[in-house]
Amino acid sequence: MKGIILAGGKGTRLYPMTKVISKQLLPIFDKPMIYYPLSTLMLASIKDVLIISTPKDLPLYKELLGDGSKIGMNICYKEQTHPNGLAEAFILGEEFIGNDDVCLVLGDNVFYGANFTTLLNEAKNNLTGAYIFGCPVKNPSDFGIVEFDEEGNVLSLEEKPKIPKSDYAVPGLYFYDNSVIEIAKNITPSARGELEITSVNNEYLKRNKLKVQLFSRGIAWLDTGTVANMLKASEFVESVQNNQGQYVSCIEEIAWRRGFISDDDLKKLGEELKMTDYGKYILSLLKEEK
Ligand code: G1P
Repeated sequence: MKGIILAGGKGTRLYPMTKVISKQLLPIFDKPMIYYPLSTLMLASIKDVLIISTPKDLPLYKELLGDGSKIGMNICYKEQTHPNGLAEAFILGEEFIGNDDVCLVLGDNVFYGANFTTLLNEAKNNLTGAYIFGCPVKNPSDFGIVEFDEEGNVLSLEEKPKIPKSDYAVPGLYFYDNSVIEIAKNITPSARGELEITSVNNEYLKRNKLKVQLFSRGIAWLDTGTVANMLKASEFVESVQNNQGQYVSCIEEIAWRRGFISDDDLKKLGEELKMTDYGKYILSLLKEEK
């Protein structure tokens, strides 16, 4: 399975913070935002990742993550010249996806929870079309919303509805079989002129190939859409890390625990950053049993 991180957009809702730099490079507590969706793909054991961003920002992502080999990954890059919508990721990524299934994670979506890896594995292993998630929110008009009947069957999916039919939002984490490329090419742009991911999901629903798995209570999905929410997400990460002494979305740690890199590789990565708590944390891992 391939992975795509979409880190495009102009970030106008976060101006002036994002006037000269991509939103997904800004920090959530102690690391760039993109580390969080990248770690989501790593937890799903996805090693081949395509990062899509604007021509202006893409060089910065390349500088940050390179070809991914330092953390045992293969990372490549693709420009999105205009913000034509999330579903364009599959058109831009056609060659990269090849004949594989694909997982798309939005560059500003942060997930954390005890059973999160199990959830990812279930999605990967039970994929027969589209596998997406549902999570209750207080502000449903800001998201893609899924409506269910009493038996839990999906009735409808709507993008940012003015009058939401439910409180269940679809988080920015989507698993698709290879037909997503053909589907993305054939959907029509929405009223705001974008190829909506919700239109892709609606096509799978029409084909009776959409599975929506609800998040259990133990899984946190943190919205980073506003300045206030970014601060809240930072506070959440700070609180988990400082209370438990275990880092959230430390990509070097995940690479090591998953066996993508050796003890020696981890040591090198820790040494490079040893002037920071982040680097010290990486080095401290080598003292424990894996
Ligand atoms: C996008 C999707 C929306 C989804 C959300 C999750 O919206 O269009 O369906 O619920 O991401 O973060 P955006 O936040 O890009 O406006």
